[in-house]
Amino acid sequence: MSDISVFGLGYVGCVSAACFAKQGHSVVGVDVSDAKVDLVNAGKPTILEEGIAELVAEMRAAGRLRPRRRWRKRSGRRTSA
Ligand SMILES: NC(=O)c1ccc[n+]([C@@H]2O[C@H](COP(=O)([O-])OP(=O)(O)OC[C@H]3O[C@@H](n4cnc5c(N)ncnc54)[C@H](O)[C@@H]3O)[C@@H](O)[C@H]2O)c1
Repeated sequence: MSDISVFGLGYVGCVSAACFAKQGHSVVGVDVSDAKVDLVNAGKPTILEEGIAELVAEMRAAGRLRPRRRWRKRSGRRTSA
C-alpha cells in the first residue's frame, strides 16, 4: 500500500481521498480551507454524496485519512509507489 496526498478536499478530493483510504492506502488530504479540514478531521465529509458520510467516518477512525492545512513530506518514507 502507498502513501497518497490529495490536494483539495472538495467534490473530487473528498471522494478520491476516502476511496483511496478504503482501498488500504495511507492518505493525507490537504486543503487551504480550515472549515473543510476541520470537517474531515471530525470524521465528516465536505460534500453530500450517497455513502460518503459513513466512508469518511470509517476512514478517519481507521487512521488512514488525515486532513492537513499544509503538506509536508514525511521523512524516512518512500515517496513513490
Ligand atoms: N467536480 C467535477 O465533476 C469535476 C470534473 C472535472 C474536473 N474537475 C476539476 O477538478 C478540480 C477540483 O474540482 P472540485 O469540484 O473538487 O472543486 P471544489 O471547489 O469542490 O474543491 C476544490 C478544493 O480545493 C481547495 N484548494 C484550492 N486551492 C488549494 C491549494 N492551493 N491547496 C490545497 N487545496 C486547495 C479548495 O479549498 C476546495 O476545497 C477543479 O480543477 C475542477 O475544475 C472537477
